[in-house]
Amino acid sequence: MVEVGSGCGVSGIWLLRGMRGDGVLTSVDVDQENQRLARQAYAEAGLPTGRARMIPGRALEVLPRLTDGAYDMVFCDAVKQEYPEYLTEALRLLRPGGVVAFDNALWHDRVADPSRQDPDTAAIREVGRAIREDDRLVPLLLPVGDGLLCALKRDR
Ligand SMILES: C[S@@+](CC[C@H](N)C(=O)[O-])C[C@H]1O[C@@H](n2cnc3c(N)ncnc32)[C@H](O)[C@@H]1O
Repeated sequence: MVEVGSGCGVSGIWLLRGMRGDGVLTSVDVDQENQRLARQAYAEAGLPTGRARMIPGRALEVLPRLTDGAYDMVFCDAVKQEYPEYLTEALRLLRPGGVVAFDNALWHDRVADPSRQDPDTAAIREVGRAIREDDRLVPLLLPVGDGLLCALKRDR
């Protein structure tokens, strides 16, 4: 599994808990202090050290170096304006049957408000449109929290 935006480790803990016991989380973040805090949070949650691979760096520089078709899930929660590019990378990284997920898909209700045209809101709308129009994907929008937009990569 790949996580784009380790943050302080909250999402990583839940992703790791939802994976098989031998599943590995590859977590990318530009901020090494956040990655240190994430590692600490995983340890405090009782997760074995070897289950997380922390890669420091900008997502759009790191993701192209990861292996094609090698991941079951890509969870995106870093730069909103880069979401459309994360989708392109995720489609390459996911095996058939894998899922890409974007946090903040409702973006504090701005996505549904046509008067909001700022670059972050526009990028989140754009990734939603791209997923909806892509025949390779089955979309699902979960209205939990600030919205979780998921898409399953069809097996074909
Ligand atoms: C909203 S936080 C992620 C929160 C995390 N999902 C959690 O639950 O703790 C966004 C993270 O993206 C990271 N970030 C910002 N720009 C980035 C970039 N260009 N590439 C990778 N990570 C980036 C920030 O350092 C921050 O840790």
